[in-house]
Amino acid sequence: MSAVEITAENVESILSQHIPESFDDERVREGSQQFRREGYLKIRDMVPDAVFAGLQKEVRELIAAHEKRIDVHLPETSDSPRYMSTVSAGAIAEEGKLIPAVYQSKTLRDVLSRIAGETVIDCPWDGEKYAILHQHKKGDTHGWHWGDFSFAIVWLIEAPDLKYGGALQCVPHTDWDKSNPRVMDYLLANPIRTYGNITRDLYFFRTDTTLHRTIPLTEDKTRIILNTTFASERDLAKNVTHETMGAMFD
Ligand SMILES: [Fe+2]
Repeated sequence: MSAVEITAENVESILSQHIPESFDDERVREGSQQFRREGYLKIRDMVPDAVFAGLQKEVRELIAAHEKRIDVHLPETSDSPRYMSTVSAGAIAEEGKLIPAVYQSKTLRDVLSRIAGETVIDCPWDGEKYAILHQHKKGDTHGWHWGDFSFAIVWLIEAPDLKYGGALQCVPHTDWDKSNPRVMDYLLANPIRTYGNITRDLYFFRTDTTLHRTIPLTEDKTRIILNTTFASERDLAKNVTHETMGAMFD
């Protein structure tokens, strides 16, 4: 049997077969409890290998054509650093095919909503729907921050051996006040949990109330993620500003 090529046209039918088999009611119940407790749930087997491979290929093509280097510190997150290269949501929306199709998958959205315990909807701001973040130099890091919207899936397109850095660190159930972010206060007052994610992992993430960062790379190694951002109904009532995104993307 030859492998089916995954396209924007067939991916929903593939996910609609795969997801109910890998996430039955019991798995969703367990996952939902962990997600609401930790703000983090690894969901590696939510998509088949072929779908992930298609996303990897598209991300690498977008990096080759569009990435730009940033090295900034952002006052809205207590001057924490962003050292990496990025591809913006605009470039992904324009030239990506599979990424937008997976993003729009109704089957995916339904299972995320069941895990979150609330309806997961489109990110209302196009500038934050998708992002590609590429760390490649010693010292590269995505410093302590929160997200503007409630949810994300983070797709580990490529990760280094964790002994070189790149692991995710989280402090869940914290709130982002952009005029007084208090990052160090939160770190001093709370336990920090560290999650190792390897190439091909994906995780569902509560981004607005989970203070998080990646451990800086200790060598020139490659860490590439695709971030897909989703919102809650709650987000629609918030007056969201986008300073940190503006500093990181075109
Ligand atoms: Fe983040």
